[in-house]
Amino acid sequence: MPSSAATSGAVEHPWHGVRAGAFRGAVDTYALHDEMRRLAPVWQAPWGDVYVTGYDLVSGSLGDRRLSHVPPGSDASGPGSAIRDWLIYQEGAAHAALRQALRQPFVGKGMAALRPVVAQAVEECVGAAALSGPVDVVAAFTRAIPERVIGRLLGVPDEDMPLMRAWSVAVRTMLDTGFDDAFDGGANPADEMSGYFVEHLRHLLAAGRLPPLLTGLPAVVDALGLTAAGRNIAFLAFAGHETTVHLIGNMLFHLAHQPDQWSALRADRRLVANAVAETLRLESPVQKICRWPLEPVVLGGRQIARDQMVVLLVGAANRDPAQFADPSRFDLRRAARQNLAFGRGAHVCIGRALAEMEGNAVLEAALARWKTIAPVAWQWLDNSSIRGLDALTLRLAA
Ligand code: HEM
Repeated sequence: MPSSAATSGAVEHPWHGVRAGAFRGAVDTYALHDEMRRLAPVWQAPWGDVYVTGYDLVSGSLGDRRLSHVPPGSDASGPGSAIRDWLIYQEGAAHAALRQALRQPFVGKGMAALRPVVAQAVEECVGAAALSGPVDVVAAFTRAIPERVIGRLLGVPDEDMPLMRAWSVAVRTMLDTGFDDAFDGGANPADEMSGYFVEHLRHLLAAGRLPPLLTGLPAVVDALGLTAAGRNIAFLAFAGHETTVHLIGNMLFHLAHQPDQWSALRADRRLVANAVAETLRLESPVQKICRWPLEPVVLGGRQIARDQMVVLLVGAANRDPAQFADPSRFDLRRAARQNLAFGRGAHVCIGRALAEMEGNAVLEAALARWKTIAPVAWQWLDNSSIRGLDALTLRLAA
């Protein structure tokens, strides 16, 4: 195990855990990050990839346009996997135009249309959870709320939510362990999910009724065609809830483990937004982001070749002791908002305000419903890119 290797001097090295995926079973990913940070701020693994742990370097790299989002050597004339068209894997003018069309509903007055949808989903799901006793809150509401929110904002019927859930879990796994194959073609869950959304968009356009997040749809379809538009709306559906689900679960996990912080929140609801920000810092749902240099670059004094994969460890940057004092502590009163959980630069998350709105609303509702929450049992996801809980049983008391 990497964490014990660091202290025992055994032959195993931290990179075994990095390669296998940082959240497998007993692997303590944060100890692994600490060890990598100690070895070098920009650490090159024996297999050639480069890992960046420091806050300043991760932050700078996220804004560095010499580091591309597009994996090198991918064969654009190949079978054309759905994920190749995703906004997140576009650069330059194509990226800017698509981003502009997709982000409209998230800015200014657009957000007002989203609020009642969030409020209704929270009311339905938290309101239906038991008032007392042990409850798996992931099964009861932390997953269902962001699913319903994004589904309804995209006009997906509630009865199709089980499909969304199955695709989301499959895409999450694919991005972690099968990315190269999926990107370069071949059938994958993102293609199947996209097929659904292509039909969905066709139907919406024919009916002339556009749900809140799709007011810019005609422009996207004009620019990209229906297939690429459908693929991007599938991406929005995935990115728009698979992350928020874990923000909410991770937040309840930490608050359940620290009753004093729960009591502080109950006494002063102005701290709710801090709890959301501190969770995003301490237990970032997106743990790592990859980039590929378009030309040779120097990062943290290390020469990096063109196309060498650079893994920006957001989860490590957000626990960098040079940036955040006592970084492993959940502290409601720290200034945590400058965390990198939503990325930075040209690709910074377009859904931040919605995710924070959902986090705030769930926490407000939980504080109103339960006097105490205590941890009983939990299971972390087996995924090195997404940090979150598969199950979280809490003892709730009203
Ligand atoms: C806690 C919740 C969330 C977290 C932690 C999160 C995190 C991130 C991060 C780190 C990126 C940048 C990735 C990169 O630079 O490679 C990103 C991009 C993105 N996010 Fe989020 N996100 C969240 C919620 C949402 C929501 C609610 C939506 C939409 C409804 C959304 C839609 C997007 C999109 C479309 C992009 C791509 C932007 C681009 O490439 O220009 N996210 N997100």
